[in-house]
Amino acid sequence: MKSELIVALDVPSANQVERVIDQLPDEVRWYKVGLELFTAAGPTVIDLLRGRNKRVFLDLKLHDIPNTVASAVRAAAGHGVDLLTVHAAGGRAMLEAAADAARNTAGTAPRLIAVTTLTSLSQDDLQAIGIGRQIELQAEALGRLALDAGIDGLVCSVQEVERLRTAFGPDPVLVTPGIRLAGEHKGDQKRVATPEEAVRRGSNYLVMGRSLLNAADPHTTAQRVLRAMREGCGAA
Ligand code: C5P
Repeated sequence: MKSELIVALDVPSANQVERVIDQLPDEVRWYKVGLELFTAAGPTVIDLLRGRNKRVFLDLKLHDIPNTVASAVRAAAGHGVDLLTVHAAGGRAMLEAAADAARNTAGTAPRLIAVTTLTSLSQDDLQAIGIGRQIELQAEALGRLALDAGIDGLVCSVQEVERLRTAFGPDPVLVTPGIRLAGEHKGDQKRVATPEEAVRRGSNYLVMGRSLLNAADPHTTAQRVLRAMREGCGAA
């Protein structure tokens, strides 16, 4: 599978979404709508993206009782969302209900991606919510649970891609944030990788936000990223 760039629309309004799309090359096909934008602008932002022929990654990290999550998955599918996140910590029944709802939609089924352990959590944070297991083991156990329940893929760092491929094989869709161009500041991301490295290691979707949105010239920066991705797969 070819790796794709997903631009994280971490902006507060639909107007700004239009501006971001206008600034970036047409080749950028995928956009991520997160909690901030979805809460501010609602599903019309998905319609806006679809209207501009873009693919949508709805990153709401769903985590609720199975029936509620299944209904939300159906609603997202109805809007034409292509990728959707759920929390693996919601448990097997929730994950299975989500996977079932995605499979049984009338249109194209959205692919579901599980979040295992938020990178903002430390070992102490896990301890405080009653999880004594080491962070990496916790992430792997939740990854296994999600994939066994029929979830299509996982969010992970580029550094984890090879380990997850060894554990789970070639099928899971691996989505990696924390991408930075060579020489760029890490910001608050703890583990970063370049686009070349992400593609080389086998990430399917590279999520990039601030590096593109805050660039002096987003168009040229995005072209650099796309070129770096082609180099990573040996195609440039
Ligand atoms: O601006 P930046 O490129 O760091 O944005 C990355 C995007 O990926 C943001 O929307 C952020 O919420 C998301 N993300 C992340 N780190 C994770 C999981 C998700 O940065 N571990």
